[in-house]
Amino acid sequence: MNLTVKKANSLKQKPDESNLGFGTIFTDHMFNMDYDPEKGWHNQRIEPYGPMIMDPATMVLHYGQSIFEGLKAFIGESGEVRLFRPKDNFARLNRSARRMCIPEIDPATVIEALKELVRLDKSWVPSAPGTSLYIRPAIVATDPYVGVRASSTYRFFIILSPVGAYYKEGFNPVKIWISKDYVRAVIGGLGEAKTAANYAASLYASEEAHKNGYTQVLWLDGVERKYIEEVGSMNIFFVIGDELVTPALTGSILAGITRESVIKIASEKWGMKVSERKISIDEIMEADAKGILKESFGTGTAAVISPVGNIKYGDKIITINNGEVGPVAKKAFDTITGIQYGKLEDPFGWVEII
Ligand code: COI
Repeated sequence: MNLTVKKANSLKQKPDESNLGFGTIFTDHMFNMDYDPEKGWHNQRIEPYGPMIMDPATMVLHYGQSIFEGLKAFIGESGEVRLFRPKDNFARLNRSARRMCIPEIDPATVIEALKELVRLDKSWVPSAPGTSLYIRPAIVATDPYVGVRASSTYRFFIILSPVGAYYKEGFNPVKIWISKDYVRAVIGGLGEAKTAANYAASLYASEEAHKNGYTQVLWLDGVERKYIEEVGSMNIFFVIGDELVTPALTGSILAGITRESVIKIASEKWGMKVSERKISIDEIMEADAKGILKESFGTGTAAVISPVGNIKYGDKIITINNGEVGPVAKKAFDTITGIQYGKLEDPFGWVEII
């Protein structure tokens, strides 16, 4: 790869690490590359972070042909920078690309460029407990054209953002609202792709949830409105009796990397019974009534592990584990973050040190 690097003339002031929140602060540099049918992906460059100038007819602005990823870098015990599962993120980016008629990228090239970018902005990787550098790669359609078709040109970029907890609750239980009136995705639709439309589709019901004092929406399947799918910013798990259950990937659910990490750790390291299967909301309500719904938690790169304290479905509200963090969620959080920060052994080879 021919990677050019243009450094920023002046560097921004670093934020207060004790109060980072999520997704509002960006580092000094970004990575860009372009695609056209003749040259393929070309002009790989690290540049100062800055606005992109776009023609008002640029296709992504009209028809939403865009995909993205979210991954994180952590500061380890001896000051090393640790990337968590980058190959898995870029493999998923290519799956999203295929679904959205976007040309695939070469993961090895992009991971090399990402490492170079993180090395350059290393002083932005926060080290306060619970903080990390959130990495947002994205691809957007760039043809200036208002007819409907796949674009022939694209921009790939990576931006970096030092972050703390995704939810204001931090690692405390969140309240989840089940939408009866709206759906996020259907089988055959875009649900499995990490594409802007899925997040746009979630907004109306999310506002409704927020107005009622709930943190996030838990989506049911789009056809029968019966089976649990995901939260939109996270996948969902339940502990029913001694079984750890999460919805099977049907095609309308995002294949979360933290989801897969929890499944692997729980089944292979803890010897827990883990099931990826259909779970109806009725099963959850019945398990609660029988007293065997022990825990629920969400998983995601941004959210890590997020315990669920309450679920509202119509006029029924259930409280799980007395609204407190349960032992499986706590153990999952400690294990995943332990591997990420290098406090625990990395038995699956998930971490790449930069
Ligand atoms: C992530 O966990 O990285 C996500 O993509 C969730 C959200 C910030 C869009």
